[in-house]
Amino acid sequence: MRSELRSWWADLAQTARGLRELARPRRDEATDDHETLLERTQRLVERLHPPRMRLRLVERIAETPTACTLRFERTDGPLPPFRPGQYVSLSLRIGEVATTRPYSISSAPGNAQLDLTLKLKPGGFASPYLFAEVRPGWEVSASGPAGSFVFEPLCDRGELVFFAGGSGITPFMSMLRHFTRVGFPSRVLLLYGSRRADDVLFGAELEQLRAAHRALEVVSVISEPDEGHRGPTGLLGAEVIARYVSDVASKTFLVCGPEGMNRHVESALRSLGVPAHKVRRESFGPPSDVTAESDWPPTVTAAQEFTIEVEGRGSFATHAGETLLSALERHGVAVPSICRTGGCADCRLRLLQGRVYVLPGAGVRESDRAAGIIHSCVSYAISDVRVATDR
Ligand SMILES: Cc1cc2nc3c(=O)[nH]c(=O)nc-3n(C[C@H](O)[C@H](O)[C@H](O)COP(=O)(O)OP(=O)(O)OC[C@H]3O[C@@H](n4cnc5c(N)ncnc54)[C@H](O)[C@@H]3O)c2cc1C
Ligand code: FES
Repeated sequence: MRSELRSWWADLAQTARGLRELARPRRDEATDDHETLLERTQRLVERLHPPRMRLRLVERIAETPTACTLRFERTDGPLPPFRPGQYVSLSLRIGEVATTRPYSISSAPGNAQLDLTLKLKPGGFASPYLFAEVRPGWEVSASGPAGSFVFEPLCDRGELVFFAGGSGITPFMSMLRHFTRVGFPSRVLLLYGSRRADDVLFGAELEQLRAAHRALEVVSVISEPDEGHRGPTGLLGAEVIARYVSDVASKTFLVCGPEGMNRHVESALRSLGVPAHKVRRESFGPPSDVTAESDWPPTVTAAQEFTIEVEGRGSFATHAGETLLSALERHGVAVPSICRTGGCADCRLRLLQGRVYVLPGAGVRESDRAAGIIHSCVSYAISDVRVATDR
């Protein structure tokens, strides 16, 4: 408990220092002696929670053959404070398509620059572009920091267990780097699953952190080991929990990785009696095959084509396996979006006709649901549909 309080207090002190810095007028900013308290407060609020930021890539750091860190500076103001674990959403134009992709911040708060670490997704759309096409000097608009997958020092008492799968290590890196400044909680166990040994991100830094901080234990688990590989192998799930986590009742679990891994780990924890409020998870996007969901209509295949009519904007064909948001973007219909996982409600559409499949767990408010509002990033056409963008 003492270490949690120390960490919380150091966190608070760092936040207070950041606030003082943000409240100070910038050198290029005209200041007015008669500026009211309200105006000053508004300026501070805008700096604390900027809805948009202009970022410039200053460095590209190769991490593994298929992952890199993009280091950005902000060009239209100071970097706002953020909680380790939060993400920013990049607004991208790739060819004719305007789209967004969220990326967890992998650097710690308080740095002058902001790091995003991305893994190349084979067959993906935005990650090949970001991985291979962007160079230092490239500028991009991003959302302000968002998301609630964060460490809560006062609630997350006792030991912490982090489950990271692949690029899902990024929010945890931000947390661990932050802990090195404000103090570690009493104990942190990082269970980190990667496909192969050369996919492990931040391996050397994790080893250094482990050696320097007695509170930290790191277990790297490889699912497709090379011959001669020594160390734990397999997938993160019940077996790994049984081997490395004793007394689950006293711990808080944070899970971040592919949707399949998240569900697997969560159900293993639930079957051990861990209550829902002790498990938090962040999903890095919709499942790769939505038709494998248990409540997906069995008569609809992923390749089946349906027509989407957008009120006042014409119609086009889509296939059932693609989210409505991606389908709309692909056909030049601009729909705002930030999280792409059902949480922020930016991508709202009104469903006027037809049926959609909505991923379980999507955070649609009851009042929205009653009014026919859907979140297009987690909705899939399972018949011809007519929608309105309402904007
Ligand atoms: C909160 C959060 C944090 C994340 N943090 C990280 C992170 O730290 N590191 C990381 O590597 N990833 C992270 N991700 C995942 C990241 O946002 C991307 O999903 C990932 O980089 C893969 O992007 P992609 O476009 O290559 O593939 P996908 O996102 O899977 O996109 C492929 C999809 O793009 C659509 N598409 C294909 N072609 C077109 C086209 N021509 N026009 C329009 N749409 C098309 C199709 O629907 C296709 O299914 C995070 C995700 C979330 C939600
Ligand atoms: S983009 Fe956030 S709910 Fe769809």
